[in-house]
Amino acid sequence: MATGYIPREFIDDLLVRADVVEVINARVPLKKKGREYTACCPFHNEKTPSFTVSPNKQFYHCFGCGVHGSALDFLMQYEHLDFVEAVESLADSLGMAVPREHSGRGPDKKQIQRTKNLFSLLQEANQYYQQQLKNTQKALDYLNRRDLSDEIIQRFKLGYAPAGWDNALKLFSKSYSDQQLADSGLIVYREEEHKKYDRYRDRIMFPIRNRKGQVIGFGGRVLGDDKPKYINSPETPVFHKGSELYGFYEARLNTQKLERIIVVEGYMDVIALAQFGVSYAVATLGTATTPDHIKQLFRAVPEIIFCFDGDRAGREAAWRALENAMPMIQDGKEIRFLFLPEGEDPDTQIRKIGKEKFEASFEEAVSLTSYFVEKLKERFNIASDEGRARFLTEASKNLKTMPDTLIKDQLLKRLAKLTNVDISTLNRRHIINAPEKTEPAADFTRLSKHEVSKTPVRYAISLLLFKPSLVNYIENFEHIALSELPGSDLLTTLIETIQESPQINAAALLERWRNTEFEAPLTHLMKWQAETDDEEVLRCELQDCLRQIRKRANEKKIETLLHRSSTVGLNKQETEELAFLLRNR
Ligand code: CTP
Ligand code: MN
Repeated sequence: MATGYIPREFIDDLLVRADVVEVINARVPLKKKGREYTACCPFHNEKTPSFTVSPNKQFYHCFGCGVHGSALDFLMQYEHLDFVEAVESLADSLGMAVPREHSGRGPDKKQIQRTKNLFSLLQEANQYYQQQLKNTQKALDYLNRRDLSDEIIQRFKLGYAPAGWDNALKLFSKSYSDQQLADSGLIVYREEEHKKYDRYRDRIMFPIRNRKGQVIGFGGRVLGDDKPKYINSPETPVFHKGSELYGFYEARLNTQKLERIIVVEGYMDVIALAQFGVSYAVATLGTATTPDHIKQLFRAVPEIIFCFDGDRAGREAAWRALENAMPMIQDGKEIRFLFLPEGEDPDTQIRKIGKEKFEASFEEAVSLTSYFVEKLKERFNIASDEGRARFLTEASKNLKTMPDTLIKDQLLKRLAKLTNVDISTLNRRHIINAPEKTEPAADFTRLSKHEVSKTPVRYAISLLLFKPSLVNYIENFEHIALSELPGSDLLTTLIETIQESPQINAAALLERWRNTEFEAPLTHLMKWQAETDDEEVLRCELQDCLRQIRKRANEKKIETLLHRSSTVGLNKQETEELAFLLRNR
């Protein structure tokens, strides 16, 4: 494999040459809608398209689930590539060779270093927690009471976060910045109150590892019955709940040949199963199974068995898993559901009946389609015409999300027989597939609940993202930083960057700030839609923003000068400046 850093100029160039519409359309067919393209989102289950792609910004965004990014992000998310693999794949499709910088201080290096540091911080934290476990008798006693062997504690690298508010904080502040500590999720920052403290205190620590075995986050369990029982890492630059599975790395490492994977609900379930020799279990991290999870699992094995507790919560979780799994079914792959007796979870069950009986019980797991039919039959009375119609109407919602497969064909036959309605009628009534072209236009101007207000700084940023060449109309911009308005540093940096690389587009700009504090605000502003393409109108809007920012900067300056004059006094030049500013207020 090639090594060395990929020069930033190459990535800029790549993102300028690549077309996000082409990249996505080759995998998920898009429909044109005004200036944008839309489709049903490939990353969540939906029936009307809220996934939109902007050829102008070279950016996609789903109004439903919030996924977004450039052509590179799409490849990373859709094909589960890491960053370098995505760059290689995209370059390859354009016939470009990926150059490598060996000598040294490429501009990308800082960013790569940043995530690298996050990984090393998490790794060091895990070593620290493991060490603490060795020295803390009550934590060892707890794991002992739960019958975990030393071997399994070591295999899953379990640890203990000691009681106290600043153990990790003190230790890691020595070599990591506040930003990194916050990004890692280890330390909680409450900015309003100027408080920072350890997220995990007096908890058993379960490190969550990615497919390369790098620690990307933690789950922490209380030793007793306090609430919350588990605290999980927040979303961080390296940890995304919706695409990570606890135990997946360990399962691959410790199973000779993976043939199936059991999906369970808890950390302790994964570990207990592994201790008893069922080394191929994984858990979602306090969330429902996402289509992305299923996709990753299907890349590793042809068979997934969801294992749920026998109680009501378990059955509800099963239905949610079913709904998310339906769009992901494939011929040649199998999804089944196993329900444990009431009151048991996989941890208690395997301790009770052992490996052999546990594995034998997989025989009783029901297929996804059978479970689907069974559940619907429970809900509707198919003895009556009306009941059968309701049954089919309800079934239709999920059927429409199911890809055209042999599995679907068979399910339809079964439903047709059960309700005594032939398949052509089901088709005509649009029970099976959505009718062509019914979906209302995606509402591009819709703002999410968490949308930030449109300040001049933010609006200026979004205008530049929409049309970077507008930078030509900006003459001087020192006052932007002086205004001290939120986002002014980002706006300044953005202007400088576009001036340096006038050909750049929004996707490549976003790429420059991947994994930095600017990534989130930029992505957010990327979603704003300009109302027009008209350059003249856009120019006026931008200049209006800059005028407002300048006004604010002048106010700041006046404030500072007035303060100075009442304390240390002003020199001649400052006095003149103040007079000038006050005159022009
Ligand atoms: N969970 C969570 N936050 C909570 C409770 C649960 O994230 N406050 C998630 C955890 O991933 C946990 C899973 O849901 O492992 C299952 O929860 P539960 O059945 O309550 O825990 P168990 O795994 O059975 O844990 P234990 O046996 O240690 O009680
Ligand atoms: Mn349990």
